[in-house]
Amino acid sequence: MPFEINKTELVWPGKYDEEGNLVQPPRVSLPFQVIERVNETRATREAKKAEGLTLFDVWDGSKEGSNFEDGWRNKLIWGDNALVMSSLLANFAGKVKLVYIDPPFDVGADFSVEIEVGEGEVLKEASILEEVAYRDTWGRGQDSYLSTMRERISLAHQLIADDGFLLLHCDWRATATLRLVGDEIFGLDNYRNEIVWSYRTGGAGKGTTLPRKHDSIHAWAKSVSAKLNSQSERQYLQKAFMGSKIDSAGRHYVDTILRDVLEGALTIVEGENKVTEFSVRPVLNLSSERTGYPTQKPLGLLNLLTKIFSNQNDLVADFFVGSGTTAEAAETHGRRWIACDLGRFAIHTTRKRLLEIDKCKPFEVLNLGSYERQFWSTSNFGQDLDGDGKVNLLEYIAFILKLYGGEPIAGSTYLHGRKGDAYVYVGAVSNPVTIAEIEQAVNECKKMKGTAVHVLGWEWEMGLHDPVVGEAKRLGVKLTLKQIPREVMEAEAVRKGQIKFFDLAYLDVELQQKSNGDVVCVLTDFSTPNTDLIPDEVRESIRKWSDYVDYWAVDWDFQNDTFNHGFVTYRTRQDRTLTLKSDPHTYPKAGTYKVMIKVIDIFGNDTSKLVELKVKG
Ligand SMILES: C[S@@+](CC[C@H](N)C(=O)[O-])C[C@H]1O[C@@H](n2cnc3c(N)ncnc32)[C@H](O)[C@@H]1O
Repeated sequence: MPFEINKTELVWPGKYDEEGNLVQPPRVSLPFQVIERVNETRATREAKKAEGLTLFDVWDGSKEGSNFEDGWRNKLIWGDNALVMSSLLANFAGKVKLVYIDPPFDVGADFSVEIEVGEGEVLKEASILEEVAYRDTWGRGQDSYLSTMRERISLAHQLIADDGFLLLHCDWRATATLRLVGDEIFGLDNYRNEIVWSYRTGGAGKGTTLPRKHDSIHAWAKSVSAKLNSQSERQYLQKAFMGSKIDSAGRHYVDTILRDVLEGALTIVEGENKVTEFSVRPVLNLSSERTGYPTQKPLGLLNLLTKIFSNQNDLVADFFVGSGTTAEAAETHGRRWIACDLGRFAIHTTRKRLLEIDKCKPFEVLNLGSYERQFWSTSNFGQDLDGDGKVNLLEYIAFILKLYGGEPIAGSTYLHGRKGDAYVYVGAVSNPVTIAEIEQAVNECKKMKGTAVHVLGWEWEMGLHDPVVGEAKRLGVKLTLKQIPREVMEAEAVRKGQIKFFDLAYLDVELQQKSNGDVVCVLTDFSTPNTDLIPDEVRESIRKWSDYVDYWAVDWDFQNDTFNHGFVTYRTRQDRTLTLKSDPHTYPKAGTYKVMIKVIDIFGNDTSKLVELKVKG
């Protein structure tokens, strides 16, 4: 039957299947796990110390409501936004007032984050290294870009409240097609504006185009009932003009309704005698808000959009949050927020950015943990047809080994492959690698007259480093523990050969109990074996082990679940110093406590250590 065309729409290969049905992406609902809880910022903590309060008189929500009083916590989610948005539907369908998204624009490029190392001066070249922060995930051409964006825009539509909005930030490459995709999902009648964000910085057109100096932010409402907050802009005049007024400083001005072209510094009228400047100028090299994260949008732009399209306590979400601009704008404007990104640098940059906000409300860091990995492995490595898990497992192991540069071997129960002289063991998708598994791998290696084993894992049993490394040494086997990176699940990173297996770093700490019973945690060593990933000139500027540490935190009473930040400290672009000694912590009563220490290194990788502490009465 010929294809019947009865409406105007954008069509691309892959949008419809052979029978003419719209291809629906798989819908999944995976459970979230809370990996960190952050209750207070450096500033709040300092203020509390000054008031003489303890660190624990903080918000404690045991059940979540839709406002902070009822236990709501803002959410920073690490994962692929298709799975994240889909999994949020169960609780948040129709509840989000504003979704802002700024996806990669289908340029096929990699975007690098600038990492400063140690205490070198800001922007001194020898102390900066560049790592891929994110890549154009859908670099397989426009068809796949449109299919993936259609899926995300449709999920956003389901999450948005009846009186809510979607803002979709695009540049000249994606604006025309994404506008049509959005119109189809939201309905042409619900299209409200093409907001033009205009600027003058960046490169010039090379004789073939005029310089491209604006992005488009498409605004759709979920329904006709959605009302935005119109703003007035104050414009100062050289002299009196028809209807102009004079302010207390004697300046002539007129107030006009803010239009949909945003540029420079906008003076927004907030009340009878109050104006606030929103600078929407791009984030330049020397801007104080610059995080070093690529494609960071100006905070003033997000502040303004937040103010126009949402109200106090509304839920605002950004599923491509990058450096965290939307989360910061929502936080400072008293909105609740959900922010998501799949890159570890994005999560880390956003986390630090939030901690810098005075009186930042409690937030938690979540991921889909092993559920996301299981979803990925079953989608990629075929069905487990005979139910014994082997079809899946062998394909999975072969895939990881190939990425690692190894080859499968047959005939061993506990070892999966070889890389050069070393045997390789590949940890399972769903469980942490245990001490017992590593011991089996080391023993098998010894039996097979090998001298080295590399164990690759996604997660690790707590406290495994010392016992396994010690035991392997005793048996004369060189044991290396390697982290399987999250990027393994990103097809583009795999295709571009950008998978780095980091060695597991090693952390040492000392807990000092003072005569008054208070406990202080001191970082005494941090070894990252990944120094070969650092360019020579940067490595030469590294003076001490602590230069590799970017952030560390202590959970004084770890309960084997979520990491609760009791003490936290980190480097910022403005302040590169890092204390290696925590503030003193007072335990409410004597007893045995588990203290968890978490370090995030300059590559954005986590290393944790669990220490048991006996607190005397
Ligand atoms: C253009 S940047 C966003 C910049 C952000 N607006 C800011 O002000 O910093 C796009 C972000 O989308 C993220 N991203 C790309 N694909 C994603 C996916 N499938 N799920 C979640 N995040 C994704 C990238 O890691 C990157 O941080």
